[in-house]
Amino acid sequence: MSTPTRHAIVGSGNIGSALARLFARAGIEVSIANTRGPESLRQLSASFGSGVHAVPLEQALHSDVIFMAIPFAAVEQFGKSLPDWTGKTVVDTTNAHYAPNSAEVLQGRLSAHYTAEQLPGADIVKAFNQLPANTLAAEIDPQQGRRVIFIASDSPQAGDRIAALVGDLGLAAVQLGRIDEGGRLIQAPNALVLRNLIEQPLF
Ligand SMILES: NC(=O)c1ccc[n+]([C@@H]2O[C@H](COP(=O)([O-])OP(=O)(O)OC[C@H]3O[C@@H](n4cnc5c(N)ncnc54)[C@H](OP(=O)(O)O)[C@@H]3O)[C@@H](O)[C@H]2O)c1
Repeated sequence: MSTPTRHAIVGSGNIGSALARLFARAGIEVSIANTRGPESLRQLSASFGSGVHAVPLEQALHSDVIFMAIPFAAVEQFGKSLPDWTGKTVVDTTNAHYAPNSAEVLQGRLSAHYTAEQLPGADIVKAFNQLPANTLAAEIDPQQGRRVIFIASDSPQAGDRIAALVGDLGLAAVQLGRIDEGGRLIQAPNALVLRNLIEQPLF
């Protein structure tokens, strides 16, 4: 097995591919995995250049920061991939609202809290779920501004870590505090979902 990258994306569909594009554009190495294995990802990863590594799911799970870009319905199964998620920061990009039976599954919980229950020990950061994948990946002239990415986490350290990474990806992080505070606003279909905000330079 090659040395794990610090960041990994699990899921290679719309959001996983958009995230890979952002990492490639910023020149930050990232691994990407799905259920079908790295062979299924060779073409996709090659299209992003040498910094996007197609890896088996088990290898992606060695990374410190894992972007969970899978259907909400798969979160429970994904959570069983590790017995203990302590030490991992997991960025939850899922939107339960669009999944069948989500109300029955959530039972009134916020979806990021449900994710935290399925991945015991992980620091969950809710982010990158608010925009359509093609909007997320679309390039903006830096002179026009930077696309806003809202972030919520019950771990201030994990929130800060992802905010710094968002900046490194050329985007503008806006931290909303805890999941049951500002985090509510980015749970679909709430107020900040599908808001494509651009932070313009003031000076
Ligand atoms: N599409 C959007 O514009 C958008 C916008 C914001 C948020 N979201 C949210 O982002 C999440 C992903 O959406 P998407 O449109 O990218 O979905 P998608 O195109 O269907 O891709 C889902 C990916 O998840 C992988 N996957 C499924 N179960 C898995 C498991 N147990 N372990 C590892 N990988 C697993 C699939 O692997 P295989 O390829 O091997 O099947 C696939 O690569 C969803 O929760 C969605 O609500 C989507």
